Amino acid sequence: MAGAAGIEFHECDIRDYAALLPFLEGIDVVVHQAAIPSVPRSISEPELCFGVNVDGTFNVIRAAVEQKVRRIVFASSSAVYGDSPALPKVEDMRPEPLSPYGAHKLAGEHFLRAAQQSYGIETVSLRYFNVFGPRQDPSSAYSGVLSIFANRVLSGEAPVINGDGEQTRDFIFVDDVARLNLLAASVPEASGGVFNGGCGEGVTLNRAWKAMQAAAKVELEPQRGPQRLGDVRDSRADISAAKEVLGFAPQVEFEDGVQRTLAWFAAQRK
Ligand code: UD1
Repeated sequence: MAGAAGIEFHECDIRDYAALLPFLEGIDVVVHQAAIPSVPRSISEPELCFGVNVDGTFNVIRAAVEQKVRRIVFASSSAVYGDSPALPKVEDMRPEPLSPYGAHKLAGEHFLRAAQQSYGIETVSLRYFNVFGPRQDPSSAYSGVLSIFANRVLSGEAPVINGDGEQTRDFIFVDDVARLNLLAASVPEASGGVFNGGCGEGVTLNRAWKAMQAAAKVELEPQRGPQRLGDVRDSRADISAAKEVLGFAPQVEFEDGVQRTLAWFAAQRK
């Protein structure tokens, strides 16, 4: 199907190898983002999530090798680090995923590395931290917190902040993630690498809510809920490797990203 700006869109289940294979013919770089990206679902629906995240990734690698694709860029996750208190997270720390989802992503990284060694295909893994921005699904209790905040503020409702709100996350705006992927796809020296995808800054949830209120020009006192089970307190990426090898520098300031996110959600309501 032809789409905007010459982009063709084909919907395909990556668990179906035969369906996937022809789409990779003549392709130079595969940027593999397909997954069920949810820690709670990986626990409550283990077979489904394993099928998509692990078998599906295996199929993408196998099809790419078969079609002589030059490089695969893989969306991994900060979930591979687990909850050790050491900060910032550096790529050569020992990964200790706590959830099936984290284990799926780590398995994907290992399958990629093994494919590079065994078949010569170039591979790059990107460990995303907290991605936010337009088009993020706000509808579940496990959606990214900023999409939930945006919807709340637009409905004139206060959000629930779990715990004291002083926990920190390394939020990265989706445009910066797209830029990171383009670098991972094109920089020759990236081949074989694993890189954190964050901004290198820890932002508290209280600051995030303040930014959302400022963007919406409203003031609402948040409800305070209990700390969420299994929540890590602080998460922050060391992005030196992405800077040095890929030449990556995040361009969207957190508050600016929040404004753009809110503007997009507001436009959906019109
Ligand atoms: C994120 C990823 C997850 C990844 C994990 C790795 C998202 C959506 N999830 O989880 O895939 O495995 O990093 O470390 O990016 N919160 C509230 N109120 C709400 C919703 C959330 O206070 O209404 C809090 C949470 O308790 C948490 C923080 O906001 O402290 C961030 O939550 P969330 O956006 O779900 O992301 P992570 O839990 O960091």
